[in-house]
Amino acid sequence: MTRSYTSQAIAPEVLDELLDLARRAPSAGFSQGVHFVVLSGDSLAGFWDVTGAGEWFAGTQPGVLRAPVIVLPLADPGAYIARYAESDKAGRGLEDHANWEVPFWLTDASMTVQNLLLLAEERGLGALYFGIFRNARRLLDALGVPAQVLQVGAVALGYRAADDAPTGSPTTRARTPSGQLVHHAHW
Ligand SMILES: Cc1cc2nc3c(=O)[nH]c(=O)nc-3n(C[C@H](O)[C@H](O)[C@H](O)COP(=O)(O)O)c2cc1C
Repeated sequence: MTRSYTSQAIAPEVLDELLDLARRAPSAGFSQGVHFVVLSGDSLAGFWDVTGAGEWFAGTQPGVLRAPVIVLPLADPGAYIARYAESDKAGRGLEDHANWEVPFWLTDASMTVQNLLLLAEERGLGALYFGIFRNARRLLDALGVPAQVLQVGAVALGYRAADDAPTGSPTTRARTPSGQLVHHAHW
């Protein structure tokens, strides 16, 4: 995660390619119900303000606020409900929202986020995924996002500042040894 950015803009063609590749993540039933709302320039102020993230980062990691782009990955459950009602998928009860043991719309949206984080690194940019804890629905309404569509957090994108250094929990917590998390044959 990058938490200090320069104010350098991301060229539109670089951003377009990142987002086009990021959305090519695995997609359950190839439902493709993940959307991105991309905020830059004047549209950033409202995001920072409404979510309270502006105030939070100003007091903790102000370098985040220089990120020129925020991407909101959004999951549309309706696309999955409709897809899993089609003839090749029907019969599992998944036409009903309540029967989804794992909400694949959130799985898919998370996979696009990871793609975006990795692609940013590969292209020499930095990225930060962070949660939206305040007024998420108010933000989405203001952005015209349909009522059933869900947010899964935000991704800041930009170029890493020279002073960027590892911050956050990995600087205070050790990485858990693999043997405690990888279980062979049984937990
Ligand atoms: C679900 C989730 C929520 C996160 N929320 C935040 C956040 O609100 N603010 C933040 O600075 N980082 C956030 N992170 C980033 C984690 O702190 C970070 O991934 C973790 O500490 C490991 O650091 P690394 O990704 O730099 O290796 C979040 C990560 C995940 C997966």
